[in-house]
Amino acid sequence: MLSGKTVLIGITGGIAAYKICELIRMFKRANANVRVVCTPNALHFVTKLTLQNLSQNEVGVEEFEIPDFKPEHISYADEADIMIIAPATANTISKMANGICDNLLTSIFCAFSKPVIIAPAMNCNMWNNRIVQGNLQKLLNAGYTILEPETGFLACGYEGRGRLCSLDTIFDAAKDILTEKKTLAGKKVVITAGGTIEEIDPVRYISNYSSGKMGIALADTAYRLGADVVLITTVPAEKPYPVKKVKSAQEMQKAVEDEFSNSDCVIMAAAVADYRVKQHAVQKIKKTDENEYSLTLIKNPDILKHLCETKTHQTVVGFCAESENLIENAKEKIIKKGCDYLIANDISRKDIGFSSDYNEVTILTRDGGVKKLERADKYTIARRIFEEIYG
Ligand code: PMT
Repeated sequence: MLSGKTVLIGITGGIAAYKICELIRMFKRANANVRVVCTPNALHFVTKLTLQNLSQNEVGVEEFEIPDFKPEHISYADEADIMIIAPATANTISKMANGICDNLLTSIFCAFSKPVIIAPAMNCNMWNNRIVQGNLQKLLNAGYTILEPETGFLACGYEGRGRLCSLDTIFDAAKDILTEKKTLAGKKVVITAGGTIEEIDPVRYISNYSSGKMGIALADTAYRLGADVVLITTVPAEKPYPVKKVKSAQEMQKAVEDEFSNSDCVIMAAAVADYRVKQHAVQKIKKTDENEYSLTLIKNPDILKHLCETKTHQTVVGFCAESENLIENAKEKIIKKGCDYLIANDISRKDIGFSSDYNEVTILTRDGGVKKLERADKYTIARRIFEEIYG
């Protein structure tokens, strides 16, 4: 299944290091070439000899050990198709997030330009530490795949989140990336992201909590799958594909419709305001002596509905954000809007949806299909959405 692929496994100094022996065997059984690098602390938990025997390759620990024409960290980085860091301790996560290269593993990570999977494992209090979480966030924002630890009984005696995710989860995530096909090659995909901003006056506006993370994850994923991507966003983003920055629903509508006729797929992940103020004040509105102040709102164009009414060959995908009766409301909405797919988001939960790096969605199709995607990071959700649409 993975013949011709080289998997580089980086082991750091945590008790879960012993589990990685079995992970190496799983990759070997799938015919991958497995290279292993360890931090010096990892060798307190597992021996170099064991790892060498299982991987059938030399195991790297010291950065300046083997004389070669290339520095060792560059050779490892060049040779591998994917790097998996498991278990990733709080210490190594924090170094990686800050570009620190003080051992072979962290130097390889810094020089590695192909996909990286990070599987943290640590004590639950370390996992909850705000600095560690901030560093994980940095890695996630930089596009690395983080496989969250599980909750349960930990080796240190605590009960909580911090246990290495299952080896199957790590293996499957790596296999998915290594066998990923450019399924969107030759397709133009237009994606919207973020909450629209409807100005009241020069200092105030109406908007919502959308961070743009879901839309950006979709755009990055479409690009990785070979699509010709245009991202239309209310939040700034620097990307290797065209990005159009917009503010209001009306601006978003114009930008989407400019791209629509020659696109193959439009995904409306943006949270578009249904209303805008009727009279936008040119100067700052002054406080009055009255206790109440009223604004008259008028309807914004329904971008998604209009796309569905005018589409020729395009696949049109809507998102919906619901705080109650997720599936009933979504079923009603897919009919009202007329889109081919509707991705239903439960925004009543704090651990998914608005602003979170994670999501759990249900995909509805116009013919009545309903499929739930279990909670995962937004990049995994994005990949699964494209799998549903394009196979
Ligand atoms: O951005 P994140 O923080 O990552 O959060 C992701 C998300 C929760 C915002 C996203 O996944 C999501 O649910 N986006 C859709 C939010 C929304 O506007 O839902 P809605 O039910 O109000 O609208 C349904 C669909 O119609 C959406 O595709 C929307 O883009 C579209 N719409 C809505 C109003 C309007 N005037 N024009 C539209 O095109």
